[in-house]
Amino acid sequence: MICPQCCGFDDLFNEKCAARELRRYRKRGPIKTTRLLIDALRSHGARGLTLLDIGGGIGAIQHELIKDGATRVISVEGSTASISAAREEATRQGYADRAQFYHADFVDMADEIESADIVTLDRVICCYPDMQVLIARSAEKAHRLYGIVYPRYTWLVRIIGPAMNLMHRLRRIAFRFYLHRPDEIDRAVRAAGLRLRSEQHTLIWHIAVYARDD
Ligand SMILES: C[S@@+](CC[C@H](N)C(=O)[O-])C[C@H]1O[C@@H](n2cnc3c(N)ncnc32)[C@H](O)[C@@H]1O
Repeated sequence: MICPQCCGFDDLFNEKCAARELRRYRKRGPIKTTRLLIDALRSHGARGLTLLDIGGGIGAIQHELIKDGATRVISVEGSTASISAAREEATRQGYADRAQFYHADFVDMADEIESADIVTLDRVICCYPDMQVLIARSAEKAHRLYGIVYPRYTWLVRIIGPAMNLMHRLRRIAFRFYLHRPDEIDRAVRAAGLRLRSEQHTLIWHIAVYARDD
């Protein structure tokens, strides 16, 4: 964990942030974009499968899919506070024995991470400079479904992104936001042999589910 962006994960997704998100999740369930992704995965037959969630934060996707009968979940998360919040919640919900947690940059550890039926990156691609490598290494792990949430390429996001980065620079937070082009994201996922099955969007986010051809 020596790259500036990985240090940035701990700067931004710190204990205070993880505690707030966990409290919110326990009270109200997943946030809207995560809920849309989970519902889309369910509609494509996600019940009872294995999950690899990359950058899952406090683990809302895994907590929900385990309730649907997911047999096993693997979480790879770059933030120390987020991964311990995810583990704490898995223990509280009584399924820690079916969960594996890795505190790491997924790309660094990809060779050691098992494949799964479903792979998810919910608001993660915009945290990572090398989108091509992140997608190539994660998509190859998906046996069946690949669910991603990433920012839309609109004028609003093109203003918000640099403004956020300026704020981070001023506050000496190492984390940077990366706005990757949707057509390049789509091309990278397709290059891994996955086909777009559904997409939807909110004001800021694009939610897409891909499936591997049988
Ligand atoms: C914006 S948060 C999203 C968290 C959660 N998926 C959600 O939507 O609430 C992005 C998370 O991805 C993690 N992350 C980004 N790139 C990663 C990588 N290459 N490997 C592991 N975790 C990563 C960060 O540590 C952070 O917790």
